Formats: sequence, structure tokens, C-alpha cells
Amino acid sequence: MTKATDTGHRPRPGESPPAKNGTSHGAAVSLSGVDIGFGSFVAVRDISLDIAAGEFLCLLGPSGCGKSTVLSSLAGFVPVRDGRLTVDHAPVTGPDPGRGMVFQSSEALFDWMSVQQNVAFGPRMRGRSRAEQKKVADEYLGLVGLRHCADRFPGQLSGGMRQRVQIARVLANEPSVVLMDEPFGALDAQTRQVMQEEMARIWRASGCTVVFVTHDIDEAIVLGDRIAVMTAGPAATIKAVYPVDLPRPRDDTAPEAIELRAALRRDIGEEVRKALREQGVDDPADVPGEGR
Ligand SMILES: Nc1ncnc2c1ncn2[C@@H]1O[C@H](COP(=O)(O)OP(=O)(O)O)[C@@H](O)[C@H]1O
Ligand SMILES: [Mg+2]
Repeated sequence: MTKATDTGHRPRPGESPPAKNGTSHGAAVSLSGVDIGFGSFVAVRDISLDIAAGEFLCLLGPSGCGKSTVLSSLAGFVPVRDGRLTVDHAPVTGPDPGRGMVFQSSEALFDWMSVQQNVAFGPRMRGRSRAEQKKVADEYLGLVGLRHCADRFPGQLSGGMRQRVQIARVLANEPSVVLMDEPFGALDAQTRQVMQEEMARIWRASGCTVVFVTHDIDEAIVLGDRIAVMTAGPAATIKAVYPVDLPRPRDDTAPEAIELRAALRRDIGEEVRKALREQGVDDPADVPGEGR
């Protein structure tokens, strides 16, 4: 186990870095003593975490702890109040297409635009020629397996397909960091599993750094190079960071996965109980934790 004070990335022996398609590169993300608040409310406090270029980092924590808040600051939507937040050593000062966000809800898509126009939106805004826009849209729709849907509209697609479009639209900006906020949380279990497998493949092909927020322990185990667990808020921080020493594709029945799941359940269980106690619930018995 790696505790919160020791957040250095350990490359695992024998594991090759993600393949790159030559269009994206991963950027290193660094948070050092970061506080984020809203008015007098301190949402997260003293978060320090170094995410390596090309790493897939899962940020796991109980609902309401501040995961989306951290992601919003990484996206440049919410400024940090204290501490230092950098991407490839440059301070984050605002939003940038090089840091793309995939939201849980596919309402982020433009309903009035075709799938192809949605994906070509970033390149179009950056003044690329029509031919280039089409080429980029083609490439990333191919990567997410939706080339055949280019002329459809978001309303004509399933939830899983809409999330693929969101991912393709973000990748079309050739980001160095992809930020994902519970992107598969609204999908049915079967589709979620397929999307997780797809996401691992897409990440490898794109070479970008991914910061993936989830409250789902199994999802974090299937996807992450490392899993950073947050404490319950307010003033949430990093409780522990676990490397996921499992080959890909992940076998979640492997002994290491079972052991890691138990440790994560214990951590999250502790935090949920702590939060319930603070809310005045006397005996918060039935929360995930020991004994399952
Ligand atoms: N814009 C905002 N203004 C005030 N409080 C906020 C704002 N956004 C989030 N919060 C508060 O910050 C805390 C963390 O929220 P959030 O980051 O959404 O949690 P999570 O994504 O882990 O569920 C919550 O207490 C939430 O109410
Ligand atoms: Mg959230």
C-alpha cells in the first residue's frame, strides 16, 4: 500500500508504456498542497498527488467528497484557493482543449449536430479546414467504433453510444489529459462493462493521461494504473494511493484484485461511516466495509 504522503508513480517492471498513435501525448499532472473551496466552504484540503504522463489514475471516493471539484480544478473551471496545480509543469489558469472533460451525462453533446459534427466541433473551432475536420472526426469515430453512425444525431443513439461520441469529441482535440467524471455511471451494468473494456483500449491507443473519477471500486480496479482514495468531505483529502499490480486486460477474480477490493472497501467504508457519524447517525451499521 502507498499512503497519501507517498504519491510517487512506480512504473511496474515488465509493463510497457501505452502505445501512441502519434497525435496525442500524455502530460504529467501535479497537485501540491491544493485547497479548493466555494465561498467559506472548504471542499478539499491539502491534496498532493503526482500523476505521470500517460498514466490512468482513478480518483475514488464516497459520494459528495469532492471528486468532481478536483476534476473541475484540473479542467480549469474552478481555481484552486491554495497550493499548486500544474500540467507539464505549467500552472493551470483556465480551461484548455488540451484538457478535455467527459461528463456522466451525455447532455454535454450538441443535440442539433450530427455525430460527425459533434466530433469535428473542436477542430472546426480551431479553424481547421473541412477536409481536416472530416479526417479527424473519421479517425476518432473509428477509434470508438462509431464510424457507421457519423450521420446520426445524438438523440438517435443509445446511452453507451452517446458516451463514445463524447469520448471521440474530446479526443478530437488531441488532448494531453482526459478528465472523466463518472462517465459510465448512468449506463446499465452490461454496457458499463463493455465501455470499461473499450476505455482501456482507447486510452492505450491515444497515449493520453487519464484522470477518471468514480465511486465504483470495481471500476477503479479494472481501469486504474493507480487508485487514489479520497476521505469524506468537507475538507476532503487523499486517504491512500494504491498501485494496481494486475496485468491488462484485468481479471477481477485474481487474488491481487480480491485483496485490493477488500482494502478499498475498508477505506471507503471507514469514510462513509465517518461522514454518517458527522451527520448525527448513531450506528451506521450497513455500509460497505469489513466482513463482505
Ligand atoms: N459550485 C459549488 N458551490 C458550493 N458548493 C459546492 C459546489 N460544487 C460542489 N460543492 C460542494 O463541494 C462538495 C464536494 O462536491 P463534489 O465535488 O460534487 O463531490 P463528488 O463529485 O465527490 O460527489 C459537496 O459538499 C458539494 O456540495
Ligand atoms: Mg461528482
